[in-house]
Amino acid sequence: MPRYPAGPRDFFFGITLARQLRNNTLQFITEVGRAYGDMAYFRMGPVRAYVVNHPQLIREVLVTKHKSFRRPPLLVRPLAKVDGQGLVLSEGDLWLRQRRLVQPAFSPKRFEGYAHITVDYTRRMLARWQAGAALDVADEMTHLTLQIIAKTLFDVEVSEQTTKLGEAVRVISEAYTREAGNPLQLPDWLPLPSKRRKRWAIDTLHDMIDAIIRQRRGSRDDRGDLLSMLLLAVDEEGDGRGMSDQQARDEAVTLFNAGHDSTAAALTWIWYLVAKHPAVEARLMEEVDTVLAGRAAGYGDVPRLPYTEMVVKESLRLYPPTWSMFPREAVASVEIGGYRIPKRSWVYVFPWVTHRDARFFENPEEFQPERFGPGHSDKIPQYAYFPFGGGPRVCIGNTFATMEMILILASVLQKFRVKLAADQPEAEPEVMIAIRPKGGMRVLLHRRAEPAYAGKP
Ligand code: HEM
Repeated sequence: MPRYPAGPRDFFFGITLARQLRNNTLQFITEVGRAYGDMAYFRMGPVRAYVVNHPQLIREVLVTKHKSFRRPPLLVRPLAKVDGQGLVLSEGDLWLRQRRLVQPAFSPKRFEGYAHITVDYTRRMLARWQAGAALDVADEMTHLTLQIIAKTLFDVEVSEQTTKLGEAVRVISEAYTREAGNPLQLPDWLPLPSKRRKRWAIDTLHDMIDAIIRQRRGSRDDRGDLLSMLLLAVDEEGDGRGMSDQQARDEAVTLFNAGHDSTAAALTWIWYLVAKHPAVEARLMEEVDTVLAGRAAGYGDVPRLPYTEMVVKESLRLYPPTWSMFPREAVASVEIGGYRIPKRSWVYVFPWVTHRDARFFENPEEFQPERFGPGHSDKIPQYAYFPFGGGPRVCIGNTFATMEMILILASVLQKFRVKLAADQPEAEPEVMIAIRPKGGMRVLLHRRAEPAYAGKP
């Protein structure tokens, strides 16, 4: 069986390709996808890298052959300083046990409460928003989703700290993007400005979570939120033991980060796309006005806002915050797509590339929410569209995030239209852990007529 599909060549031991992947990421991965099709191979220094770009093969990597892969230690190391052995990074029995313990926090019976919190915080944000004001909607969405995740999962208010926490998460994301995969990672204790900022960011997050855990351990009551579940958890199917403080902290930090960063990025892109497509905006407002008729949205409204959900899905197709799955490292030699992939090779799967592949989406660069409408969405092959990943490591927060985005979108559109500011250039995606518009997203707020808007824009 052959080992190596075709791919870009590099006569400098893969150093040039590694640099392109790091500095020119989206262009590089798009070109590799277009030039080499379903599977490509290239060398990056010591790493043998495969790119998989076909729904059936993606399914093999994420689902049917997932046991043949793990997260590459070279990429885990820099993130572990933040997330420890939390759900995103852990493997094997530890991962399974933790996933089982955390899962109940995402059971549908909790969603009514989460929906209430989401709408409540969105309305508080709207009460602050002023007609005619210009603001950075990327910052607004970060602050909002930070508050929602802190309240839903930990039952704490972080309104006073959102600027600091948002900044800390951004510094960590930048540091990770710079360091990940770089074999020459400098130690964090070096007195360099970038390292000092990284230490500040990690300490900021850890101090916040530690303070919450300390406070909660003191009382030991069950507040019914995720933190209580972590601290009181007993793994009934497993060894019957609870979670250590360290593990609870790792899980809490992981969920805090994963639980707002991608959602904030997704919402920012949604506002961008809606602002650029007035017909979509008009249809959204019509749906929101008809369904909500001026009252606050709730959990029960989510299935009654199907067009809003289509807009969310189509935005996640064009701008999947997780532009790349965590690369998978083969733990033993494994066959994918007719190639024998040697042990320790890395396999990349890029939603950014597959989501924009003309074989699976007509006019893939166009924003068309109808793709996800009745009679259309079932034509999308499974794993041609996978913004939340797939298989056992599928995003644990996917339903929560989708509900949150629908409710935020509907609640904002009841009161405001979000227009791009005149000084906002064409958005340029910046690759970090979640993909975000470079320099933020300047918008101008237009207040809609009160009471509930009923006519044409
Ligand atoms: C639009 C929002 C979101 C997107 C696009 C997203 C995307 C993803 C993707 C693609 C993965 C799989 C990564 C891989 O397998 O390499 C993932 C994993 C994960 N996500 Fe999300 N996510 C979002 C929101 C959330 C939320 C709200 C939470 C928690 C409240 C969350 C928690 C996690 C966790 C803990 C994992 C690791 C799961 C595991 O490995 O068992 N995510 N996410």
